[in-house]
Amino acid sequence: MNKLLEAALAARQNAHAPFSKFKVGAAIEDESGRIFTGCNVENATYGLTLCAERVAVFKAISEGARNFKRIAVAADTGVLTPPCGACRQILWEFCGDAELTLVNLQGKTEVFQLRDLFPRPFDASFL
Ligand code: THU
Repeated sequence: MNKLLEAALAARQNAHAPFSKFKVGAAIEDESGRIFTGCNVENATYGLTLCAERVAVFKAISEGARNFKRIAVAADTGVLTPPCGACRQILWEFCGDAELTLVNLQGKTEVFQLRDLFPRPFDASFL
């Protein structure tokens, strides 16, 4: 298994998901091969919960990284877990039409282009 998928699976272990018990990990790789990871971080208010994908993106941006080429999302589901709608918007903003790999704990994978999961996006080109 490649390093990006391993990183997403490892990040999933750090999930703070006491309410849903649904642990997610994410990893994104920039053009120089640096990997940034995230896990979902839930909150007792529920609404303040952050998904793993957004944590990974915001960590990377705050570290000065840009130009992401690959994304991985890890969860423990047979039907592989895709990013929610809000995360697709954020991923598009910072990663554009990047390659997105979903993976589960058995090592099952599916690969998508973000464009296919997020057609006709609203983005800065409209502003
Ligand atoms: N979650 C993610 O972290 N990423 C996704 O793509 C789907 C959902 C989290 C949010 C919440 O903590 C839990 O999974 C259940 O929705």
